Amino acid sequence: MSPDPARQPAPAERARRLREELRRYDHAYYVLDAPLIPDADYDALFRELQDLEQRWPELRSADSPTQRVGGSALPEFASVRHEVPMLSIRTETDTTAQGALAFDRRLRNRLGLDDDAPPLAYEAELKFDGLAISLHYEHGVLVLGATRGDGQTGEDVTQNVRTIRNLPLRLQGEAPAWLEVRGEVLMKRADFLRYNERQRARGLPTLVNPRNGAAGSIRQLDPRVAAQRPLSFYAYGWGEIRGWPAQPDTQHGMLEAFARMGLPVAEQRAHGSGPELLVRFHERILGERDSLPFDIDGVVYKVDSLALQRELGFRNREPVWAVAHKYPAQERSTRLLAIEVQVGRTGKLTPVARLEPVFVGGVTVTNATLHNEDEARRKDVRVGDTVIVRRAGDVIPEIVGVVAERRPPGAPAFDLQAQLQGRCPVCGSQIEREPGEVDWRCSGGLYCGAQRKQALLHYASRLAMDIEGLGEKLVDQLVDTGLVRSLPDIYALREPQLAALPRMADKSAANLVRAIQGSLHTTLARFVYALGIRHVGEATAKDLARHFGTLQALLDADEPRLQQVSDVGPVVARSIHTFFAQPHNREVVQQLLAAGVRWQETAAPAASAPLAGLGFVLTGTLPTLGREQARERIEAAGGKVSGSVSRKTSYVVAGAEPGSKLDKARELGIAILDEDALLRLLQDGARPD
Ligand code: IVH
Repeated sequence: MSPDPARQPAPAERARRLREELRRYDHAYYVLDAPLIPDADYDALFRELQDLEQRWPELRSADSPTQRVGGSALPEFASVRHEVPMLSIRTETDTTAQGALAFDRRLRNRLGLDDDAPPLAYEAELKFDGLAISLHYEHGVLVLGATRGDGQTGEDVTQNVRTIRNLPLRLQGEAPAWLEVRGEVLMKRADFLRYNERQRARGLPTLVNPRNGAAGSIRQLDPRVAAQRPLSFYAYGWGEIRGWPAQPDTQHGMLEAFARMGLPVAEQRAHGSGPELLVRFHERILGERDSLPFDIDGVVYKVDSLALQRELGFRNREPVWAVAHKYPAQERSTRLLAIEVQVGRTGKLTPVARLEPVFVGGVTVTNATLHNEDEARRKDVRVGDTVIVRRAGDVIPEIVGVVAERRPPGAPAFDLQAQLQGRCPVCGSQIEREPGEVDWRCSGGLYCGAQRKQALLHYASRLAMDIEGLGEKLVDQLVDTGLVRSLPDIYALREPQLAALPRMADKSAANLVRAIQGSLHTTLARFVYALGIRHVGEATAKDLARHFGTLQALLDADEPRLQQVSDVGPVVARSIHTFFAQPHNREVVQQLLAAGVRWQETAAPAASAPLAGLGFVLTGTLPTLGREQARERIEAAGGKVSGSVSRKTSYVVAGAEPGSKLDKARELGIAILDEDALLRLLQDGARPD
């Protein structure tokens, strides 16, 4: 049915509504952290608005959600004079509770309050560790973003500021005629890690820490580069204000008003009277520091009453009414004692820095990953260097830089291959690095001792051979005692040997033997996945099993044949082929088969599968089938099982206590099956009406 043109709102009206709606979704997503609609729906609305604006360019407006990234690279930034100077605050260096008490005492003295006078009212906030920024909103529309610069004159970074996703391009509700909001631009830790991870995977330079990341991004001359960097903004103050009749008269009132306008304001705030409030806040935030989404370097105390702030005023270009109370640093320097190379489950070789122990970010750090050779070289860390170690949040410690002037003379640059003389430090196999790859790897596969434990754990894991009870501790014991040297050894394990292991009861030994023997009967897909071939995940293993039908056909396949499998490209094909080309890997496979691993072989690929082309979603508890069983049966019949309901879903299988997926299915009018109906469908492919 085509829409009735007479009832369609005019493009201008539709664009206005779309903008309003998208703004509301942006605010919910980026500021409140509570998305209102699925990403796909958002994208559809966004595209609709983009289309409208493209067709009718006069509808385009600077505050449209589509206009975050626009404009071209600048030759340089223009200067911006701050009408109200952007000052810094005095830092209380005593990191104990005394710091807060001293601030209160100073203020009371200055105000001439004796001990009987009532306590002062305060607001306590986070001290964000980013970059100060000033945002000008004219009648609620963002018109200028400027850095602090020297406090008097900053740089016009409007183009870049517009790309900050949690920052409103237009304020909600009744906005003042002119409002200059001040706050901090920062990079959340998760965004920082994700960004670096992506850069590393591409062999590109990483950011040193979130603060440098934020500062560097805001000062990018090309706004498209800035848009790639995931920044956030938090408001904590203001500059010039004009035409705001209902302006609050307290610090906390101002921040609450900002939040109502849709500006991001951190939740972690407190207001009340007396210095005890400050001491409690300092302690509370110290405890929460690691779980905050971004770095802070302390807290800030402010006199809550704006009248009193004015009375106290400034001294030495610092407000008398505010103070920063710091926490211990998250970056410290120490000495790099050695660079060792570790071998991971997949054979990945990771250089690790051994450090002289240093207390940083609340723990003693003795080593830090260097990720890969390129990264180690880019940072140019050398044995004997004084390095800067950073540990923030629960994140693993990192070396962020070298103190160049303290380098001992003659320290050689790091060279992984030379240091290892081309051999895996664990099994002596040749190390290799695929073209375009960042990591060196050991080619030893199932044969390498470092990979043995992980290979075994992976082999036994739920989606692989599913051997219950064969977990990390036991695998350690089995490998360390020499009971298991190679995968097939597990099938030779007997109760008495197991029962003799420390902390192993007779009953659990018996259970384990039963679980191991029980796993012998499996599927080809599980077996292929269990081998732990690089690039072969669960889905690829299933595709391979379905495509080739038998193990022999898979073993015989050359790279072009492998590439005929859906989703298998040259890299995956090469990896599979190389794996099966290693004599010791083939030997292990033969030994596993000899030990009794078996499955039903389907000679012909399942093209006639009754559920081919159908998509399923499971929700709730089925009366007899477990979730995994149901999934396997559907997949064995050619169906696909996915985690979320969309228009592409053919059936939702619902059991007891179904979740929101059932509601979603009803909403989209998707057929719902119970277990009986599913079993019938599996049996004969009959579609319910
Ligand atoms: S108020 C006139 N509040 O710390 C007072 N500053 O040295 C202006 N900062 O560069 C500052 N969190 O970027 C204030 N909650 C907060 C803050 C904060 C971080 C930064 C600010 C400034 C520096 C002050």
